[in-house]
Amino acid sequence: MSIRIVSFEDRHLDDIRSINLSVSTHPDRPADEKALFQHLYIDYYAIYSKDSCFVALDGEEVVGYIIAEPCLECYRRHFLIDYMPTAISLRPEFEQYLKNEIRIYEKYHSQYDAHLHMDVKPGHQRKGIGTMLIQREFEHLKEIGCKGVMLTVSPSRIGANSFYEKNGMELIGNEGANVRGKKL
Ligand SMILES: CC(C)(COP(=O)(O)OP(=O)(O)OC[C@H]1O[C@@H](n2cnc3c(N)ncnc32)[C@H](O)[C@@H]1OP(=O)(O)O)[C@@H](O)C(=O)NCCC(=O)NCCS
Repeated sequence: MSIRIVSFEDRHLDDIRSINLSVSTHPDRPADEKALFQHLYIDYYAIYSKDSCFVALDGEEVVGYIIAEPCLECYRRHFLIDYMPTAISLRPEFEQYLKNEIRIYEKYHSQYDAHLHMDVKPGHQRKGIGTMLIQREFEHLKEIGCKGVMLTVSPSRIGANSFYEKNGMELIGNEGANVRGKKL
């Protein structure tokens, strides 16, 4: 196995969308909900914060990705102006969920200005790929001047929590989900 971490390109989008679906804890969501969540957790970054996204390649196969947004104000603007109205028109009950998402990022923003999401393809996990991805992301965010990076992760994802702990993403709060952060 020879893994390369490279900058995200548009041609990788379908692959990272399908990796995200393959590790979903809600595989049975209706199609319109899936589209909303893929926009929230994947497409936004591929469009608006592409420079902070990386993929892991095994040969030419995409086997993992990490996507981040270093600009909370950009995220908030897009989220509230473009995304939220569309999302609520499809599922009014999502309003609280979505407002909570922004509230959490805002609460920790003074020390952790960037946030990230990542997944490694099943069959390729626990081979060091996630570590390569997250270390590359730390380097990049530090280079562009971020103070820290955070994420939320369900406490039920035991493997992911152990992974983040090993990579210096300490538990910094509990907002229903675990909030983890690392100063850069
Ligand atoms: C969490 C994840 C990104 C880590 O990437 P990875 O390439 O598997 O991780 P690495 O090989 O670099 O690091 C391995 C360490 O992560 C932890 N880990 C990862 N997967 C694990 C699992 N299924 N069970 C237990 N520990 C796990 C362990 O601490 C492991 O160390 P060990 O093998 O010495 O016990 C990846 O496993 C994944 O995508 N999992 C499913 C989806 C997910 O949870 N995504 C994160 C959502 S916030």
